[in-house]
Amino acid sequence: MKNKALINEIKSRRSIRKWKNKKVPKDLLKTIIDCGLSAPSAYGAQPWEIIVIEDKKIIEKLLSDRRQLKKPPYFINSAKYVDKLGKEKYEKVKPPPLMIVIAGDQKEYYGDTGGLIASLACCGENILLASHALGLGACWLFVRDDSMPDVEKEVKTILNIPSQHIVLGMLAVGYPDETALNKVLKSKKIHHNTW
Ligand SMILES: Cc1cc2nc3c(=O)[nH]c(=O)nc-3n(C[C@H](O)[C@H](O)[C@H](O)COP(=O)(O)O)c2cc1C
Repeated sequence: MKNKALINEIKSRRSIRKWKNKKVPKDLLKTIIDCGLSAPSAYGAQPWEIIVIEDKKIIEKLLSDRRQLKKPPYFINSAKYVDKLGKEKYEKVKPPPLMIVIAGDQKEYYGDTGGLIASLACCGENILLASHALGLGACWLFVRDDSMPDVEKEVKTILNIPSQHIVLGMLAVGYPDETALNKVLKSKKIHHNTW
């Protein structure tokens, strides 16, 4: 196999929701952002705007405003997630040392919102994978959710993001302070040749 190490990183990545009280070093931060910037994008437009947040007060604000909605945008508590056999439990957790917000300009994207969202998702996934490969632990937190538009509005207000931008998600990153959960892959969803 050409690059088994990469395959192993992709397969072993899991969401981490508890972090050590330790800053992410600048060189690692630069590498994970570079990996985000290397993602594929529709029309090759590289539409992402990436907001790197290390200010603890802003990170706390982003999390607390999500909590005030009293609906799941909270972090899932991993231990309880296991206890309840897959039933998600959303709870307050300690803020991560680093938050990376991914946004993109809707007006400049040829009216192709789907393409913009897919491109931003590629960027986010690259950052999650690179974080994992470098020994960091990360979790995607939804921002844009059509059933809960208030979350995106709040995040835009807190970060002063121009209105025409989509904010797809934010990635909480740090040194892991928990063992990631195993998960069962839904291999039955693979179809061959036709549905
Ligand atoms: C678009 C998207 C939004 C997510 N939002 C949240 C979230 O708000 N809170 C959270 O704890 N996890 C969130 N996650 C992480 C998922 O819960 C997680 O990926 C899933 O449970 C599978 O676990 P794994 O990442 O360990 O493989 C999100 C993931 C994606 C892709």
